[in-house]
Amino acid sequence: MKNLILSLMLCSFAFSQSYLDPSMQINQRITDLLSRMTLEEKVGQMCQYVGIEHLKNSERNLSKEQMKNSDAHGMYPNLHSSDLIKLVEQGLVGSFLHIKNLEEANYLQNIAAKSRLKIPLIFGIDAIHGNALQRGYTVYPTPITLASTWDRELVEKISIQTAKEMRAAGMHWTFTPNIDIARDARWGRVGETFGEDPYLVSELGVASVIGFQQRDFTEDEKVIACIKHLIAGGEPVNGLNVSPMDVSERELREIHLPSYKAAIDAGAFSIMTAHNELNGVPCHANSWLVNDIIRNEFGFKGFVVSDWMDIERLYTLHKIAESPKEASYLSVKGGVDMHMHGPDYLEHVVELVKEGRLYEKDIDNAVSKILEAKFKLGLFENSIVKKEKHDEIVLNNNHKQTALEAARNGIVLLKNDNLLPLNKTTKVFVTGPNANNQTILGDWAVLQPEENITTIYEGIKTLSNGKVSFLDCGEDFLTISDKNIKLAGKMAKKSDVAVVVVGETSLRNLWNTKTCGENTARNNIKLVGKQLDLVKAIQKTGIPTIVVLVNGRPLGTTWIDKHCDAIIETWEPGMKGGEALAEILFGDINPSGKLPITIPRNVGQLQMIYNHKPSQYFRKYYDDTVEPLYPFGFGLSYTKFKYSDLKLEKKIISKDEPFKVSVKVKNRGNVIGDEIVQLYIRDEYSSVTRPVKELKDFKRITLKQGEEKIVEFMINPDKLAFYNIAMKKIVEPGAFQIMVGSSSLDGDLQKVQLIVN
Ligand code: BGC
Repeated sequence: MKNLILSLMLCSFAFSQSYLDPSMQINQRITDLLSRMTLEEKVGQMCQYVGIEHLKNSERNLSKEQMKNSDAHGMYPNLHSSDLIKLVEQGLVGSFLHIKNLEEANYLQNIAAKSRLKIPLIFGIDAIHGNALQRGYTVYPTPITLASTWDRELVEKISIQTAKEMRAAGMHWTFTPNIDIARDARWGRVGETFGEDPYLVSELGVASVIGFQQRDFTEDEKVIACIKHLIAGGEPVNGLNVSPMDVSERELREIHLPSYKAAIDAGAFSIMTAHNELNGVPCHANSWLVNDIIRNEFGFKGFVVSDWMDIERLYTLHKIAESPKEASYLSVKGGVDMHMHGPDYLEHVVELVKEGRLYEKDIDNAVSKILEAKFKLGLFENSIVKKEKHDEIVLNNNHKQTALEAARNGIVLLKNDNLLPLNKTTKVFVTGPNANNQTILGDWAVLQPEENITTIYEGIKTLSNGKVSFLDCGEDFLTISDKNIKLAGKMAKKSDVAVVVVGETSLRNLWNTKTCGENTARNNIKLVGKQLDLVKAIQKTGIPTIVVLVNGRPLGTTWIDKHCDAIIETWEPGMKGGEALAEILFGDINPSGKLPITIPRNVGQLQMIYNHKPSQYFRKYYDDTVEPLYPFGFGLSYTKFKYSDLKLEKKIISKDEPFKVSVKVKNRGNVIGDEIVQLYIRDEYSSVTRPVKELKDFKRITLKQGEEKIVEFMINPDKLAFYNIAMKKIVEPGAFQIMVGSSSLDGDLQKVQLIVN
């Protein structure tokens, strides 16, 4: 008995002093836990695998050969799902990605809880616009639509709500925000970015990080954000995902790195390295990028995860490693802390430490940060989630309302020849491959229960008091039949207006036929297949034609712009997209979105960006204009805003003095509307060339009919700075143009000169 009491006392002493005691400081808990871990257990924490259900699915449906040759599926030819479970039991797995549902999450955590040290698992998932890779969650518009709202608070709110839904599902770590700067319309991933501008991307990236993590991610409704993909993959040489990037240090620092610096300053706790190489060194083995710049210069304190199979690709694709083990070595040296995804890495890293090529202290360093995440997320205390709480939080009315608000504010009206808004009694004909399906969800979503989605056709039908006719012309862009094209013309003639819904599809369930999204680049930016024929047949009838675009990348719709009466860019407006679009069509909502990316006319114009250098359009094309189809920052409203009285509080400032800019904006129309007031600068003369304009601030305001407001911006002088010839960031004295207006187009901007002494 005495012995029993003694051992109980010892036990409780050990507990109260150990990493399992929540009252201990997190750094003490980490030190204690590390001291108890074997090398294998430590490296196990650096290993991530794809979820068991995903694996089982591949095991059921793929042949051995397919498993070996397809890197898009979750599969391990030499590791069966049952063996993976054993690894979890042995405490040799740190993380999973792409768990299917709450049941799978709880199942795996319960197994981890049986391991020697009971270290919980951290689950990562690409919840980039809601927890949309699982079924039944709120699916917000994709980032490119969110960026069109230019609304920091809204992006933060969506991230907070997504975090809640994720935690309710047992997920802890979202692989977003994607803060790549998208500078090539051919690239399939434009839709998952915030567009082309470093400042807009930084602002919305920061808003996401703050929303997901809410400072320290220490409660059970917060998740860790993962900023990605370090770096420059948004400008691939040929538009293809993974292609190499050769980019000067100046461009890297001025275009691609600022969003990372901003997100790191906002506390982002994880970073994903990019598939691509940077100036000859793959990002997964780039110590200069990860260790020197991100950690030492920018002060990043969190952990770095590899992207899908990219450590392996140092060997199989980039050929800078002569074996898979060498690839693992280069990635650890290159600053990567966690391997996504699969077997062999554990054995490699353990061997490399035993051989003395890697130091255990470097492993401790990587593992500490992963453990810190798990401690802060509270997973050691509670890793199991409850169904009741899940059902209360997920897809609640508040979240659905936010999804609707985001779609309303992100949809961009590109053209309106006095046709919109429509009267609700108008007879509307609706057709097009994207009119009545889930393409509105965009990439990184699985098909959702039908009842959760309002398609565009459904939205129009619900709001209209007139007759709505619909032609299902099929969802495949390539196979719209001539019969249906003809029929569409006939049906249009019997209506007052036609709404043709065309574009792209990024849906993952169409992995082999989708036209946009991850790994789906294009060599042109025209409408795919027979979509334009369909539009032409309808327009030819003389019935006013409204083209609604559902797409994840800019499309050069020049013919449509010339011949159709109205064009609405919805991007990928999410589960409530159809409702929001209908409200805009019928004037219940005044459109207010503005483009976060330039829309070129055709692929030959690429690279087409608004913040280009002065010489970019010095010469012209023989066969086309150098103007974009729609400029960055552009978007129409049902009202007109008038800008006047652009003023500087002081016209001459010293180079470290903040300055105030004000402008008067008036709603001259007779409907309430939101305007996005944009501020650009240009350094008039400088020691190295500078862009013709750069966005430096913006404000979204609401004005009632006839109302006017003075909009003020307080600009910090570092917004005038650039890297000089010696690559030192400085403000050079001289004249700057300050431009404020409704888009990046010169004609839309008021201008005033600022002198810096
Ligand atoms: C993508 C990442 C994503 C990862 C996990 C990769 O193919 O590049 O953005 O987070 O898969 O789904």
